[in-house]
Amino acid sequence: MSAASTITVDGKQISLPVKSGTIGPDVVDIGKLYAQTGAFTFDPGFTSTASCESRITYIDGDEGVLLYRGYPIEQLAEQGDFLETCYLMLFGELPTPGQKADFDYRVTRHTMVHDQMNRFFTGFRRDAHPMAVMVASVGALSAFYHDSTDITDESQRMIASMRMIAKMPTLAAMAYKYSIGQPFVYPKNDLDYTSNFLRMCYAVPCEEYQINPIFAKALDKIFILHADHEQNASTSTVRLAGSSGANPFACIAAGVACLWGPAHGGANEAALKMLMEIGTPDRVDQYVAKAKDKNDPFRLMGFGHRVYKNYDPRARIMQKTTHEVLKELGKHDDPLLEVAMKLEEIALKDEYFIEKKLYPNIDFYSGITLKAMGFPTDMFTVLFAVARTVGWIAQWAEMIEDPSQKIGRPRQLYVGPTKRDYVGINDRG
Ligand code: SDX
Repeated sequence: MSAASTITVDGKQISLPVKSGTIGPDVVDIGKLYAQTGAFTFDPGFTSTASCESRITYIDGDEGVLLYRGYPIEQLAEQGDFLETCYLMLFGELPTPGQKADFDYRVTRHTMVHDQMNRFFTGFRRDAHPMAVMVASVGALSAFYHDSTDITDESQRMIASMRMIAKMPTLAAMAYKYSIGQPFVYPKNDLDYTSNFLRMCYAVPCEEYQINPIFAKALDKIFILHADHEQNASTSTVRLAGSSGANPFACIAAGVACLWGPAHGGANEAALKMLMEIGTPDRVDQYVAKAKDKNDPFRLMGFGHRVYKNYDPRARIMQKTTHEVLKELGKHDDPLLEVAMKLEEIALKDEYFIEKKLYPNIDFYSGITLKAMGFPTDMFTVLFAVARTVGWIAQWAEMIEDPSQKIGRPRQLYVGPTKRDYVGINDRG
């Protein structure tokens, strides 16, 4: 605990404790502010507000640093695999070889979903957005797995966590297959997590599916990059939903819903659509001008970040992965990549973007890579949700296990009408 801070409200001065973490900004603990001053803090969008203590992910936005349980994202992405990151997220340490083998075995054997989920899917229109299907089907898991919805039971919490991590790829692949009118493909236990997902998406009953190891490695890396990101909008949604005691499947469904927004996880789909709309490098300047025009709501999707005021470290790794995938495909001159590189080059030199510290974020390159791998744009955020599920679950578990945890219930600054009496309808003007 560092020195206290003082604040004066309506002439009354009070002292508020300042708490320090292991790294990163201190926090002023305002828990007693209202009781001692009768005033609330006011911070819409939570630009200066820490909502919790956490040991999972650390971001230094000025330095472009991202650590999962203290390990740099660059090292985890280059040297590990996604299920290793999942183990690290859930248990706080990198697994031993035996722990990794056991964890992989257990996740693999939770990848099937209750077969009645197939009938659940047939209620959707084929052209439903896959994220709409994911919001519904993830929430529906709580209608099938009653033996892992008691959040007070540690063993049930762990089973629910394994089920969520394991079943998200299966549901995602089912959403994709359903949208293209192809039969669902069941998971295979002899495949690794990401290869299993690729096969469930792209295999057809008529022939054996050959997994491209470059694609599997690239997608596994993309999953690692998207696994967690401290208290972003969808993670905060999961924590708030969980604070009421809602079951984990319902909380993750709430996270999926929040992630869908174009300002958040929907930006990868929006960024690719923007690149496709720009179409050619010679049209980039006019779109940069639109993004700078205060009277034009257009924003460069895939640019800017609430926390990163430097290059998003995930975007750098993503850019490298994009080139690897395109090289594998022999697509050295993908027009979308040319547009993206031109856009990045211009934006990073433009005074507007420099002054506002707007850099490419993880969504800027991910869409190009996923499109090159054959995913339709409306599946991009679904893949983000598959990866982020482990972060949501780890943060949810951390919140549930926090002895000081209580239901989240913010207050407000009321600016509506003062008290007034009802007027009968016949007496209204
Ligand atoms: C993700 O939080 C996370 O960690 C999220 C995420 C994760 O892993 O969970 O990292 C994933 O969501 C990445 C972000 C994806 N979103 C986009 O790419 C959409 C485009 N970017 C934005 O709309 C915006 O940058 C946000 C939403 C990401 C951040 O918005 P902030 O922090 O609330 O900043 P702001 O909207 O107040 O913008 C500050 C200024 C504004 O100008 P002024 O009003 O000060 O004059 O910068 C401008 C904005 O107009 N601005 C942009 C811009 N983003 C911000 N101008 C043009 N293009 C943009 N992309």
